[in-house]
Amino acid sequence: MVAVPHLGLPSRPRADIVPESLGSAEFRADHGVRYAYVAGSMYKAVASEDMVLRMGRAGLLSYFGAGGLRADRVVAAVERFQRELGDGPYGVNLLASMENPAKEAEQVEVFLRHGVRRVEAASFIRPTESLVRYRLTGLRRAPDGSVHVPHKVMAKVSRPEVIDTFLAPAPRQLVDCLLADGRITAEEAELARQVPMADDLCAEADSGGHTDQRSLVILLPDTLRQRDRAARDFAPAGRVRVGVAGGLGVPDAVAGAFVMGADFVLTGSINQCTVECGTSERVKDMLQQAAVQDMAIVPAGDMLETGTRAQVLRRGLFYPARANKLYELYRRHDSLDDLDPRDADQLQRRYFRRSFEEVWAETRAYYERTNPASLEKAERDPKHKMLLVFKAYFVQSIRLAMSGSAEQQVDYQVNCGPAMGALNSLLRDTPYEDWRSRHVDHLAELLMGGAARVLSERLHSMTTVERRGQ
Ligand SMILES: Cc1cc2nc3c(=O)[nH]c(=O)nc-3n(C[C@H](O)[C@H](O)[C@H](O)COP(=O)(O)O)c2cc1C
Repeated sequence: MVAVPHLGLPSRPRADIVPESLGSAEFRADHGVRYAYVAGSMYKAVASEDMVLRMGRAGLLSYFGAGGLRADRVVAAVERFQRELGDGPYGVNLLASMENPAKEAEQVEVFLRHGVRRVEAASFIRPTESLVRYRLTGLRRAPDGSVHVPHKVMAKVSRPEVIDTFLAPAPRQLVDCLLADGRITAEEAELARQVPMADDLCAEADSGGHTDQRSLVILLPDTLRQRDRAARDFAPAGRVRVGVAGGLGVPDAVAGAFVMGADFVLTGSINQCTVECGTSERVKDMLQQAAVQDMAIVPAGDMLETGTRAQVLRRGLFYPARANKLYELYRRHDSLDDLDPRDADQLQRRYFRRSFEEVWAETRAYYERTNPASLEKAERDPKHKMLLVFKAYFVQSIRLAMSGSAEQQVDYQVNCGPAMGALNSLLRDTPYEDWRSRHVDHLAELLMGGAARVLSERLHSMTTVERRGQ
């Protein structure tokens, strides 16, 4: 364990609050971790193998950023975790894919075949067949009469209607379908009635990446209340732990989350600016400079057609303005041919730095391999073709950032929330100002150890009446 730097935080605990006592004891026991603290996944192995291994060795939970990776890369990562961590804590991200359910099914196949015991399920608007299959596989009655649930699901949520579906058992019609196809057993189908879809709900407030920008102080108590209400009709929902993410970058914020009743906390943005994170050094250099006001809300490239929003770094980048422009053009026009010639020229010369034909040739080859149905639609529907071409810009912008390209730096897509700026401000003029001295597990120590100290100090000052002038 590292010594937690004090960084001007209250330094002497005056009550018995220690990082190990924050949040839910069941969370710690169930996941076999020291703290009720999680490092969330970040696509394309930005939440890298090294990050997961470093956290696991420190006895802390994190999720591998499997989104956007090929199955063989995920398999290799999982094998490495199992080899190097044994039973140590780790999990893998499962992203809902409404556009391409086969991708989700492929991921779940990998998880089941390779014994992945924990997933962080994100972007689901309801449980899907693949997620239900993962959750139910291996359910069995334990000798004490309880139901043994080998596959743990942490669901990222921010909307009440989605929260309800994860507090409930798997939808019956999906269970029946899986049973009819022989993908689950009769016992698993029967026990499904007693098991909520998630073990942990992570209420995601104003976070980096995809976000509904909900306010943490509203979302967390509301989700806790929703959980307690659900337990009146379905008692096992009462055991679902509710944690929070979005905006947690300093100990005070983490302390606040625990005071409001969070069973665990989850961070994202701050972990991107560490030695272990899988993005480029150039991105880490930029992130290290970011202040809390340096972020922007833009359309999310992978869900451009739905208007979903994401939070990204703005400082020094054209990407946010360009993402907005592409979204506006997509809304206003029905095909690439319909674009104003000046816009078409600007996109090809400045955004893509290639012609639409070249972008389409590459996009076509990709969709032929991964999603032929979408390609067929694009051949019929020019608006859909325009969508796929525009999406290529968002993919390209992630690649540029991850590779650290020097020429197209203004096009970097760097998902990030204000928590990053808050941490930078805390670490200014300390040995941790430089990201090269920031490690993902040390940030966990800093936030959890710091939160324990903040709480001890506040509790002391709120319970001590000073009698002045006596
Ligand atoms: C660069 C980046 C990439 C992310 N990618 C994913 C992802 O692929 N899947 C996912 O579930 N969450 C993803 N997230 C969200 C994080 O796991 C986490 O929930 C969020 O960052 C927490 O909020 P914070 O950024 O304010 O700490 C990403 C976040 C960032 C900053």
